[in-house]
Amino acid sequence: MRSAVPQHQTNQQVSYSCWFNACYSFSALGFLRPLSVAVQKNNFRRLLRTVEAVSDLGPEITAEREFPQTARAMVSALMQAADAREVALFSFSDKPSMLVSIASDGFALMPEPAIIPLLPRHVHALITARGPVVLTSSSYSIFLSSNGNVAPELFRCIAPLKVGGKLVGMAALGRREADALYAAEELDALDLLCNYVALAIQNHTLAQSLAQRVGENLRLMASLHGFYDTALEAFAAAIDVKHINIHGHSLRVGRYAAGIGEAMGMEPGDVAALRSAGYLHDIGKVAVDKRLFGKPSALDPEEFREMADHTIVGHQIVSGVQFPWPRIPEIVRSHHERGDGSGYPDGLVMDDVAMPVRIIGLADTFDAMTSERPYREPLSVGSTLSEIVRLAPQKFDPNAVQGLLLQVRRDAVGSNRAPFLEDRTGLNIAPGDIDQLAASLQHKISHGRMYLT
Ligand SMILES: [Fe+2]
Repeated sequence: MRSAVPQHQTNQQVSYSCWFNACYSFSALGFLRPLSVAVQKNNFRRLLRTVEAVSDLGPEITAEREFPQTARAMVSALMQAADAREVALFSFSDKPSMLVSIASDGFALMPEPAIIPLLPRHVHALITARGPVVLTSSSYSIFLSSNGNVAPELFRCIAPLKVGGKLVGMAALGRREADALYAAEELDALDLLCNYVALAIQNHTLAQSLAQRVGENLRLMASLHGFYDTALEAFAAAIDVKHINIHGHSLRVGRYAAGIGEAMGMEPGDVAALRSAGYLHDIGKVAVDKRLFGKPSALDPEEFREMADHTIVGHQIVSGVQFPWPRIPEIVRSHHERGDGSGYPDGLVMDDVAMPVRIIGLADTFDAMTSERPYREPLSVGSTLSEIVRLAPQKFDPNAVQGLLLQVRRDAVGSNRAPFLEDRTGLNIAPGDIDQLAASLQHKISHGRMYLT
């Protein structure tokens, strides 16, 4: 629970400050003036009891504990200070205006929670009341309505709880021993204690409202993320609508890239970013002549340049968009770069290209090789992986390739909950062959021409 006093104050300090405030308040009220005359024996005992209750309450309301426990401690302190047999503590909530019980003790019949709806005139009367009020048969209806699940007649005395002039709750007292009336001493003691109780309830209400808002924001963000994913999937499908040969390409690249990232041990947020980047990596193809996608032979140099420009056009498109993942423009531009500088559009080498870009480049290549083209049949998964391992680490990042091998192997042994390759080209490679490829890749990294740190 949030403290009603500054966090840097210790419980001991709280007790001291409560003691000081209690003494000061009682002085101001005339209890200690002059001590020998005005303070009768009973009043002095009451004063001590109240100060004790205030001192005890400080640590209670500043302790890190559940609020119901603190509320029960506040009820005990109120019983002690006002010498009451029955006490209920309510918090006030607006819209609609009502009092809801948070703790009670001594009442034979007190529902949990007890609810008292309030009309505007009740709220006004509680806010303008100057301290605790002894209720009479004619004054119940001024402060409380009878429309709740508890009869106001149970209460003999009420103390509106206010912070900064705002109503935050109410302490309601029932009978005392031998049905004694609440006299000025009890009301003064109650008034003093209620300042602390009001602060504790307000802090709790604020903490609850903050938690509720954070929860609402998280739910909103989650729904936005869901919406975002769905929107990007639709976008990916729209990018690939140009020709039957590339149908589903962007969605698959998103799925492969996310799978590779996951196999490499990336955080869930980074994996989600890879999936989205895969969906959007070819966005520049919306500007490429549809005819080029269905050409039954290899592209001539002019056509190749137009096709290659999809990286630059795509970069221009996404650069003006505020994505939750900052690398999207970089990925869109550089996913055709290769480790040895043979890629396009900028001829970057491996060290110039970030890992997410390398992963998208690998996922894109894997899907392109295993897909049918107008001028060739699709390569099998086994042949594609052999070729990729042959080209690593010069063209492809070896760690990303290891991630790809791991995911395909999981498919081969049936350990992937959601298949990595889904309905893609039939898996024609045995786990042992994938292990051989992995060993070959490892050998190239550790004993071949390139050493990685
Ligand atoms: Fe591309």
